[in-house]
Amino acid sequence: MSRKILVTAALPYANGHIHIGHLVEYIQTDIWVRFQKLRGNRCVFVCADDTHGTAITIRARREGRSEEQVIADMREAHIRDFDGFQIEFDNYGSTNSIENREQCEQIWQKIEASGLVVSRDVQQLYDPEAGTFLADRFVRGSCPRCGAKDQPGDNCSVCSATYSPADLKDPRSVLSDATPEMRTAEHLFIELEQLREFLIEWSQEPGRLQPEVARYLSGNFLGDALRDWDISRPAPYFGFEIPGHAGHYWYVWFDAPVGYIGSTRQWCEANGESLQNWWSADADAEIHHFIGKDIVYFHTLFWPGMLRTAGLKLPEKVHVHGFLTVGGEKMSKSKGTFLMASTWLRHLPPGPLRYYYASKLGPGLDDLDLNPEEFVGRVNTDLVNKVINLASRCARFLSGTTLSQEYPDDGGLFQQGADKAEQIAAAYEACNYNAAIREIMLLADEANRYVDSRQPWVIRKDPARGDELREVCSVTLNLFRQIVVYLSPVLPGLKLQTEELLNSRISHWNDAVTPLTGTPVSEFQHLMKRLEMKQVEQMIDESREENAAEQAAAETPVPQSVEAAGPEFHPADTWQDSGDALQNEPLADECTIEDFVKVDLRVARILEAGHVEGAEKLLQLTLSLGGGEVRNVFAGIKAAYDPQTLVGRLVVCVANLKPRKMKFGLSQGMVCASGSGGTEVFLLSPDSGAVPGQRVH
Ligand code: MSP
Ligand code: ZN
Repeated sequence: MSRKILVTAALPYANGHIHIGHLVEYIQTDIWVRFQKLRGNRCVFVCADDTHGTAITIRARREGRSEEQVIADMREAHIRDFDGFQIEFDNYGSTNSIENREQCEQIWQKIEASGLVVSRDVQQLYDPEAGTFLADRFVRGSCPRCGAKDQPGDNCSVCSATYSPADLKDPRSVLSDATPEMRTAEHLFIELEQLREFLIEWSQEPGRLQPEVARYLSGNFLGDALRDWDISRPAPYFGFEIPGHAGHYWYVWFDAPVGYIGSTRQWCEANGESLQNWWSADADAEIHHFIGKDIVYFHTLFWPGMLRTAGLKLPEKVHVHGFLTVGGEKMSKSKGTFLMASTWLRHLPPGPLRYYYASKLGPGLDDLDLNPEEFVGRVNTDLVNKVINLASRCARFLSGTTLSQEYPDDGGLFQQGADKAEQIAAAYEACNYNAAIREIMLLADEANRYVDSRQPWVIRKDPARGDELREVCSVTLNLFRQIVVYLSPVLPGLKLQTEELLNSRISHWNDAVTPLTGTPVSEFQHLMKRLEMKQVEQMIDESREENAAEQAAAETPVPQSVEAAGPEFHPADTWQDSGDALQNEPLADECTIEDFVKVDLRVARILEAGHVEGAEKLLQLTLSLGGGEVRNVFAGIKAAYDPQTLVGRLVVCVANLKPRKMKFGLSQGMVCASGSGGTEVFLLSPDSGAVPGQRVH
């Protein structure tokens, strides 16, 4: 029976870019979703930006823009980063959406009607210049215990004392540098204690949470009366105003998880589905949340409490992962290990990181370490030497012909691999990816032993052994494909390349248990490059510089007024365009719309750009059309562009141009540019908002 599964990953804050720590979670979740889809389950993956709260206001003021502008740009950047790492959401929403506001209102109504809301006065520091209450981390001052200067509002980094911001000596507002004053304001609270019995039952049910999470909750929270949860903030606050409580806004952690529902609703509306079928208490769907260990109690106490009170579907499971360290230490800006997703993509493809994380992720909450040497070594040993090598040693001998019409005798190898299908599936299901990868690599070892013993490169030299060559290569390519099916949740790019190579889709897990016969084999293309330690070092160097520049920007004081920065105004008569370009290249003959649509122009992202040895004018570009679809293109733009500056940008390409064999390799398309050539070449770029794969009409 196919399951109906709704999966969420935590909604990233809109006040910062996606970094490789975040990616642990989004890659983990994406792998799980792709696995479920491959198993034939109905699986929907939703996420959104988490847009509300004081941090956004501060960023907006610093940048001299409105909050709405900040979150719109950040959403675009997040989507670009996720796309670059092949993280494929079915819907990516925003908590600042109409759908989310409505869902919040409905849930709130039920919570108020259940008598869970109380109002109380709260004393909080207030910044009289910025006109806003200050959360703890926006107050700094001298430690009340050891006197260390410039310490945060809740704990001292020198002597580790913990205190409240009001205890600081000479406190200052981070926003304006003003001295904050204590003020009283009314806040709304949810009395969680009324839900404790339910929360014990829900959280302690076997299989619901990882055992260590269930123990953490019972040991630290559920044993005593639960504290009331402060869910409102007084104006000014960037968020949703609470109906019936003018001047009060929902605290960001109230509307953030509701964003899961808001995003599902957008997906439902776009796909003719009913939200009830996913979120009503009796819906036949399973809800799975993936989160990091820092946000456990929001998801396992507050959130189920809200859902229960609102009569909505409770999560089937909350999957919690640990934190990323790099080289055994916390990610560090000064060391350059606070690596942004976009920085990574300028230097390296996404597949290796997806694979490396998968090979390290287990079912528990342990932190996981990205060790640069181990990363390079593992990717090269496993993927390049063991997996890709299977195809690269055999495919070229069958290019242009077909696999054997009947699957040859392989001494039971393929069947052995097929027999592992359920065991590997169970490991993916349990988020025990490292166990899955270990099994898959054992299969790859077997397959390599087979190729080594049969030596197709020797057989090939004897024209009398043509049948044997086909058999050996057919077996090897089938073993290769079986491994790729098992790896495909982790490596969607390799899956696509394999589909192309063997002219056959991989659409179900069971594709690993039936060998392919008689299908054509395409020309062999390079599937993955070896990684060099140098690439990782260069990336870390660049990241260190970026981090330093960002640090400097973050330290500039925050202006108090927010002015929207509009586009500059140009009166029409200030442009005086000459007719030279038109004269040099007169307009072509008239064409029809039918002629035009034959050319399939697409938005593409440049994933890689580099020089081509021996080519004076060309750069080699790897273009992504999204969804793992990539094109290799040689473009005559070397004199006009430095390849490093191209990586990550969007271009327009002719996506259906007949591939052309060049001296340097196969060119599979063209990028659109204007200009007369040489240094006078101007690539076309789509306006922001466009995404790879979109057709240009
Ligand atoms: N906005 C909240 C989540 C709201 S969900 C209703 C948030 N955002 S976040 O951007 O800080 O983090 C998003 C996710 O990434 C969280 O699950 C968090 O645990 C995870 N990670 C952030 N940094 C991480 C590492 N360094 N390592 C592993 N995961 C990390 O929390
Ligand atoms: Zn101190």
